[in-house]
Amino acid sequence: MKRSPSKFALALALVLAAGCRETLRFTPAQIAAHRMLDGAPPGFLLGAATSAYQIEGGNHNDWTAWEKGRYPDGRPHVADGLTADRLDDSWNRWPADVAALRVLGANVYRLGVEWSRLEPAEGTWDAAAAARYRQMFAALRAAHVAPMVTLYHFTLPTWIAARGGWDWPGTPAALAAFAGRAGAAFGDLVDWWCTINEPNVLVAKSYLAGQWPPGARDPARAARVMAALMRAHGLMALALRQNDRTDADGDQRATQIGIAQNLRIFDPASASPLDGLVAGAADGFYDESFLDAVTLGRIRVVLPGVADIDEPFPPLAGSFDYLGINYYTRDRVVGRLSGSPPYRALPADDRPHSDLGWEIYPEGLYRLLLRYSHRGWPLLVTENGVADAGGAIRPEFLRAHLYAVDRARADGVDVRGYIFWSLLDNFEWSHGARGRFGLFSVDFADPDLVRRPTAAVATFREAARNLGTLR
Ligand code: FCB
Repeated sequence: MKRSPSKFALALALVLAAGCRETLRFTPAQIAAHRMLDGAPPGFLLGAATSAYQIEGGNHNDWTAWEKGRYPDGRPHVADGLTADRLDDSWNRWPADVAALRVLGANVYRLGVEWSRLEPAEGTWDAAAAARYRQMFAALRAAHVAPMVTLYHFTLPTWIAARGGWDWPGTPAALAAFAGRAGAAFGDLVDWWCTINEPNVLVAKSYLAGQWPPGARDPARAARVMAALMRAHGLMALALRQNDRTDADGDQRATQIGIAQNLRIFDPASASPLDGLVAGAADGFYDESFLDAVTLGRIRVVLPGVADIDEPFPPLAGSFDYLGINYYTRDRVVGRLSGSPPYRALPADDRPHSDLGWEIYPEGLYRLLLRYSHRGWPLLVTENGVADAGGAIRPEFLRAHLYAVDRARADGVDVRGYIFWSLLDNFEWSHGARGRFGLFSVDFADPDLVRRPTAAVATFREAARNLGTLR
């Protein structure tokens, strides 16, 4: 049927207007009345996350010099000058982290292994460091907590950085070799692998915004790095499947492989076509491109103003056993015709914000779970949390986001788990200690670095009790 132009214009206007109207809003009564994780299937994963560099202390990688540096205008790279030298000292105090997980009733812990620690020089392997990680994984298993291991979470060994970091064509293969070694060394204790954490955030922060090392603002380079990260993931998945053939938990599967993808809601702030177009472009590059690459088995990167990258890469196809979703917030996009970034985010006056100014929008998690339910991968929330130094917002934040998960499950979405960011306060990259995400707070000046439960621990335990994992 031929559509008349006026009807088409009307439909377009309605679609654009829908973007800026609230079509879904959870009520406090709905959230309060729901029983968290009610009816979650057996094996549902509930836990917390950290990353190696953000908690361990004592690491040396491409962030080590960066975090002590300054921008040309004199501002420090890390807002409050925090360094990662000691932090939570989890490299030594990891038993306290296992104890905290037991308090929570968690049955999964997403943690990282630090590439620069295990492979301090090209081709070497630090057997003592590997032995300590094995000790951690074994202790977790003994506590009925499945380790989910992230292999690359933003930090590069200095020997990789010296060769050009993600610009060096050898980096994907080097990371895959590391993944293979990790698979062989830890595979009898680990089934859940997260190859890369948030490739889109790395590209945005390090190659578009210039806020993380190497501090670039170069869209063409950003597109190439995105392609390199896709290549790395495909090769890492192959290496893991070749080297980890041991089923650690008895479910007949030796590996469960995915990435943790930061997914953000980009809603146009108004009905203006510019807001709609820019929101769509941001969504396409940031949320979709990596996932499309895995679906298609093709590296395809489209960034406005930059030549498209499009080439087949078969290792990507079938590389996901799950999609990990890291969800924090949405942007209400006010588009710009030129300039970088191509939009500003309009604050949502009627909703609370975190200490870092991020809108708290639990409906966004529900929308994403529905949206990604048809891509063929089971979904796992691999990060969700709030910067809240006072601790007053976090309990409600957790309850509301579990409501989003439960509602999506009730709608038939295959959500396999929910992992909170973070187990404990840590090094929040350029925000330093200003981003306090921990279920347990830690005062980095405390000689004993005591892990102190925040109010949200009681809420988490309530969910764990409902799930039957609190012992
Ligand atoms: C995510 C990162 C994680 C932490 C949280 C707050 O983007 O994966 O390291 O910084 O945000």
